[in-house]
Amino acid sequence: MSQIDSIILTRPDDMHLHVREGVALKSVIPDTARQFARAIIMPNLTNPVSTAKMAQEYRDEILSAAADTDFEPLMTLYLTDNTSAETIKEAVASGIIKALKLYPAGATTNSDKGVTQIKNIYPALEAMQKNDLPLLVHGEVTAPEIDIFDREKVFVETVLIPLMVDFPELKIVLEHITTADAVDYVSSAPATLAATITAHHLLMNRNAIFQGGIRPHHYCLPILKRETHRQALIKAATSGSPRFFLGTDSAPHAQNTKESACGCAGMYTAYHAMELYAEAFDKANALDMLEGFASDHGAEFYGLPYNKGSINLQRKRWQVPDTLALGDEKLIPLRAGEYCEWQLL
Ligand code: NCD
Ligand code: ZN
Repeated sequence: MSQIDSIILTRPDDMHLHVREGVALKSVIPDTARQFARAIIMPNLTNPVSTAKMAQEYRDEILSAAADTDFEPLMTLYLTDNTSAETIKEAVASGIIKALKLYPAGATTNSDKGVTQIKNIYPALEAMQKNDLPLLVHGEVTAPEIDIFDREKVFVETVLIPLMVDFPELKIVLEHITTADAVDYVSSAPATLAATITAHHLLMNRNAIFQGGIRPHHYCLPILKRETHRQALIKAATSGSPRFFLGTDSAPHAQNTKESACGCAGMYTAYHAMELYAEAFDKANALDMLEGFASDHGAEFYGLPYNKGSINLQRKRWQVPDTLALGDEKLIPLRAGEYCEWQLL
């Protein structure tokens, strides 16, 4: 087979993205708008986006930062122990809320107002199921006795499977999956369940966290896993199954909060997201599967129209900048100072 050096795809969607707020938001939105037509915007701000009114204001802020583009933010709400059926009714009425996000309390960045007991949100989940509003889950248990590398597997077994039984018609996305266990479960579960996969979990295993010393820019949640899990993710992403689609989980944190005695979790990949995914698919000889994963499956799951227009990726080596700006601070992108093998034209 001759080598493929250029591919054209329908404009893709990022179905899991953090853009923060204020000056940081202004810095990162252009990167995503250049790569993607739409993105599912995570609600984990310091003051979580938990009502339709807050989502409306947040959406306006994003739209004004993307003013010279046609980028479309797809808004989500943050579920708390107090999210009621009434909140869901208002979310539906707003017309802009595409999903609600479940952060188990303490699981990750700004999750302290998250849900402590899944039963607390059963009335909200009931209303979401009735109104066809998907539930997005950060699929990790937070109990201190569970090993950090097992958090996702235990979540699937103890939280997700019972949830699927109790809400058989609720659409659920298991976000940023990292394990063969999650791949196996999603593949065998009813079609109401799908999963997003990040570029960094396709490209790196847990050795990357300790490569030549401790590497804070390779720390994210769920944490990178061993190579066998990475291979299972590659297989799922390149399988053509509509149950797996693109979600970068690009999560910008200022340099000083990453390079710290207690560094924040999250990698910044919005700058070169499609290049990173193209490299992962290319290495698996599956570039022909990238369009389904990046541009079709997510839209189908959310019931959105396919995007108009296309992007062109070319095989071309280029150097990732050492730093980017995050408002007045510095942002270190994944692979800073290193090379990408593909380039978005
Ligand atoms: C995310 C963030 O910083 O908001 N961090 C991360 O490591 N992925 C939160 C999240 O998605 O867990
Ligand atoms: Zn995330």
